[in-house]
Amino acid sequence: MSKTATIELDGKKYDFPVVVGTENEVAIEIKSLRGDTGGLITLDPGYKNTGSCKSAITFLNGEEGILRYRGYSIEELAEKASFLEVAYLLIFGELPTQDQLDKLYKDIKKESHVDEEMKKILDGFPKSAHPMGVLSSLTSALIAFNPSAVNVDSDEEMYNAIIKLLAKFPVLVAWTLRKKNGQPLDYGDSSLGYVDNILKMMFKKPHENYEVDPVVSSALNKLLILHADHEQNCSTSTVRIVGSSHAGLFASISAGISALWGPLHGGANQAVIEMLEGIKQDGGDTKKYMGKAKDKEDPFRLMGFGHRVYKNFDPRAKIIKKSADDVLNQLGVEDPVLDIAKGLEKEALEDSYFVDRKLYPNVDFYSGIIYRALGIPTEMFTVMFALGRLPGWIAQWREMRLEKEPIGRPRQVYTGENLRDFKDISKR
Ligand code: SDX
Repeated sequence: MSKTATIELDGKKYDFPVVVGTENEVAIEIKSLRGDTGGLITLDPGYKNTGSCKSAITFLNGEEGILRYRGYSIEELAEKASFLEVAYLLIFGELPTQDQLDKLYKDIKKESHVDEEMKKILDGFPKSAHPMGVLSSLTSALIAFNPSAVNVDSDEEMYNAIIKLLAKFPVLVAWTLRKKNGQPLDYGDSSLGYVDNILKMMFKKPHENYEVDPVVSSALNKLLILHADHEQNCSTSTVRIVGSSHAGLFASISAGISALWGPLHGGANQAVIEMLEGIKQDGGDTKKYMGKAKDKEDPFRLMGFGHRVYKNFDPRAKIIKKSADDVLNQLGVEDPVLDIAKGLEKEALEDSYFVDRKLYPNVDFYSGIIYRALGIPTEMFTVMFALGRLPGWIAQWREMRLEKEPIGRPRQVYTGENLRDFKDISKR
């Protein structure tokens, strides 16, 4: 592989270093481009061809459908690890020893309270408020009650901020659901494991005991792991760029939640179920909706299909699809939209429009079916995505800060008006 790449413009040649990653990804490092050429920049809407950073956290290969966290395959982690182990792995770089894992959870439990005043903020929202908007606001509001978590520069200060977020975020998720359900807010039971306590906080009914169903616990553990990180996706890039201004961890995560909310990103899991329900209401005519998805005049898209990077099966979708069958069988749940989803997938994989564009089911296509079987309401699906993605966002924010990356500030190509004189209103 050459060590430099050359750009030639107006008879002049400019050499730039070539960077090769540990999985042999190759990049042209252009950080001196503008200075070397007297103003030349690159243009790449949506950053489809642009690397924003070097990162050692997650590797994915879209052509081969590979996803690894710190070198461990998603298939192994989903099968063998706990979500808290994966959180530790993503954030600190290695799978924890038992002592390290025990200390992490002990530190988390010490910080699992949320200031009672936060309930007044939650009360200010109407029941109709979308949970993602509530969660983003509450996460940002945490700053007011944890000012020491804002200007964090030392390892210890970062660790303390990270622990506070890993501890309080699940409480905010549970409170967001309970507010929607008109239920009293609950802290669950810290004698349970991290994921089991999340389930108890979310679903314990007043005046009833709550026993965690091992099938539900295992399914949620797997789903959270599968969503935990995904290199420089839209919301993670948001976390990194907000964090690059040193706005603090909580503000960066709050911004990431807002980015994830969009239906083209994490909001797709809710949009998939709404789409499948719509097809079911419309008589289950999947062929009609396949036609709509291919019609350029029709804004309808097959939600849960396609991906910016995966031009092969999303490995997470494969695992979730199998898990959907297992969970629904184990829980004795019949869900007609699962059959509609499978029918759509089969038709799409045989249709040249989808095959030619390498559009396959992504992580969001089947996840909502499992969330629904676990009793999670549709509007909370993207909140569950955020809960899973939290350790990944934290890991990426920490890496960006430890690498002392500069503030993110892209350039542009100006295409507006050239200089013109002000015109008095009487003359316009
Ligand atoms: C996530 O980046 C990540 O890693 C994200 C994520 C993560 O873990 O963080 O994996 C999570 O966000 C998964 C994606 C969830 N979104 C959806 O399921 C929404 C439906 N999918 C699309 O909107 C779309 O596929 C995107 C947004 C996911 C990707 O968009 P791109 O890469 O910008 O691709 P594109 O829009 O340029 O599409 C290329 C072609 C176009 O057709 P042509 O102009 O070439 O004729 O494919 C078509 C598109 O019209 N196309 C679709 C389609 N997705 C793309 N046509 C119908 N249905 C679709 N779903």
